[in-house]
Amino acid sequence: VESGESVVEVGCGTGAMLIELAQTVGKKGRVLGVEPQPGLAIDARRRIASAGVGSFCSVIEEHGQALSFDDESVDVALTQTVLTHLPIDDVHATLAEMVRITKLGGRVTAVEQDCDTWTIDHPDRSLTRAIVAFNNDERSADGWRGRQLPRLFTEAGLDARATIHTQVDTSRGSYLFALCERIVEASADAGAIKNQEAASWLRTLTEQAERGCFFSTINYVICVGTRGT
Ligand SMILES: C[S@@+](CC[C@H](N)C(=O)[O-])C[C@H]1O[C@@H](n2cnc3c(N)ncnc32)[C@H](O)[C@@H]1O
Repeated sequence: VESGESVVEVGCGTGAMLIELAQTVGKKGRVLGVEPQPGLAIDARRRIASAGVGSFCSVIEEHGQALSFDDESVDVALTQTVLTHLPIDDVHATLAEMVRITKLGGRVTAVEQDCDTWTIDHPDRSLTRAIVAFNNDERSADGWRGRQLPRLFTEAGLDARATIHTQVDTSRGSYLFALCERIVEASADAGAIKNQEAASWLRTLTEQAERGCFFSTINYVICVGTRGT
């Protein structure tokens, strides 16, 4: 994203990325967040106001499948960790809308985790595999959305270029340690693993982390497509 550009972020949540986008495009640009959950949209508006970018950054409450923007009206349409949570028909509809509102020569971008690329260094391989599979298969509409992005972009008429960002976490206070805690508990609650197994698995992981030996990674697929004629 460059200075002076107009950008729409679909599924902006509480607006953390809107602020970075606004600081990048500056006052000559425009940033619009799309967020269907009113509570999150309110939080995003508060964040925009306190960052002092409200004159060129705002949030509207709507779904990605039915955007109210004009055809070919923005330079960049992007979305981050949203498509994983949408059923496939809504993914196709949202990408079609993002293409429709993007100017010819503009960019459509999506970033999604690929949940089956989650690695955790733990001595119990079979239980670790069960927890990763539970997260991939049961916690979102499709945990493979990341690897599907290049195909989905091509099907939407975009020339897709994909790169990978690998998140690497090594501390107990990290995002991936918190994900381990959350998903092992959810796996036990859903009956995918036993409560005792969950407690023992997490105890071992915590002991490892306290010895400075926590290591976990997950891949994000970043897909950029240019809107052709
Ligand atoms: C995991 S959060 C990601 C939020 C933000 N993009 C981020 O990276 O922090 C998913 C977001 O997608 C929004 N969302 C869910 N369904 C949507 C839809 N149909 N269209 C647009 N956004 C949607 C949710 O309300 C939520 O804010």
